[in-house]
Amino acid sequence: MAILVTGGAGYIGSHMVWTLLDAGEQVVVLDRLSTGFRWAVAPEARFYLGDVADADVLKTIFIENDIEAIIHFAGSAVVPVSVADPLSYYDNNSGKTRALMSAAIDAGVRHFVFSSTAAVYGPQKTTDPVKEDASLNPENPYGQSKLMTEFMLRDAAAAYDFNYVALRYFNVAGADPKGRAGQSTAGATHLIKVACEAALGRRDSVSVYGIDYPTHDGTGVRDYIHVSDLAEAHLKALQHLRRGRGSLVANCGYGAGYSVLDVLNMVTRLHGHSFKIHMAPRRPGDSASVVADSTLAHRVLEWTPQYDSLETIVRSALDWELFLMDRNVDDLQGIHRVLAAAAF
Ligand SMILES: NC(=O)c1ccc[n+]([C@@H]2O[C@H](COP(=O)([O-])OP(=O)(O)OC[C@H]3O[C@@H](n4cnc5c(N)ncnc54)[C@H](O)[C@@H]3O)[C@@H](O)[C@H]2O)c1
Repeated sequence: MAILVTGGAGYIGSHMVWTLLDAGEQVVVLDRLSTGFRWAVAPEARFYLGDVADADVLKTIFIENDIEAIIHFAGSAVVPVSVADPLSYYDNNSGKTRALMSAAIDAGVRHFVFSSTAAVYGPQKTTDPVKEDASLNPENPYGQSKLMTEFMLRDAAAAYDFNYVALRYFNVAGADPKGRAGQSTAGATHLIKVACEAALGRRDSVSVYGIDYPTHDGTGVRDYIHVSDLAEAHLKALQHLRRGRGSLVANCGYGAGYSVLDVLNMVTRLHGHSFKIHMAPRRPGDSASVVADSTLAHRVLEWTPQYDSLETIVRSALDWELFLMDRNVDDLQGIHRVLAAAAF
């Protein structure tokens, strides 16, 4: 039986594909390549180009493969764009997931793992680690569109022979320690990626929004989770569903935060070159500190992170950025040749 990974050509999805293959699973990828890259998909995975709401593509996938579970990463994930164009986010993140769930349930696929986000909680008033039962108050259409999907999953699991795990990711960063995948998104807004690009001279400066927060150095604190640990959490979620242990919503983070300046200092220290930092006012809706309480994922999914260190995360992100700079990322064959030749 095979696992269908939607969005498997994107940042997190491409790591998931490697994690599944490493675990001996058969993998099918569905991606429309709106932000992902065909070359980012491991050659051992079977690739379908298409939209997650395209009934014909889904029918073909379900006929040609014995799909046991879906791990659903496909979606839109840029908060300011969701504010400027909310209906496109409700369409791609909520509406199209509904279509995918419906096709999956009709085809008898019982297990579904979903990419949710800490954005479902909204701004935090305290700096305490956030638990799953915190109030759900998304500040933007992105968080709202993901929360709507969580509600659809909950209701579908109550009504049909269907179960799910929704993982609420905190700040995902880093790259595959074996160098096979990383974040390649053009114009990415994630701090660690942006800082690595600046260190390598691919950006002029990095903006720091807010230096007067009640944190150890005045800048915002976030919980950065290594993308490979996150992929491992999905594998654990899949095993949880296979064992019939029921649906679950769980946070994925390390429970410890680093400030914006901690991150920038780490990038400078590891790369050896400083870059321009632009101090800017706070952005509306940003919290001083957002850190996960992931006790549930540790206890119920038996998830044990391996790369829980800012230095490890930043080092892998820098290595990937250097790789991207050295290669022509449009050259699929060239990239696969390089990856195949690398000593993993
Ligand atoms: N990166 C983070 O820090 C973060 C945090 C929380 C949640 N998430 C969620 O994780 C998921 C993956 O995020 P990412 O950072 O890898 O993003 P990404 O943009 O790199 O990957 C998304 C992939 O989905 C594909 N896609 C989008 N809409 C599609 C559709 N309708 N049909 C088929 N393919 C489609 C894109 O082409 C891309 O390959 C998203 O759902 C995102 O909301 C990400």
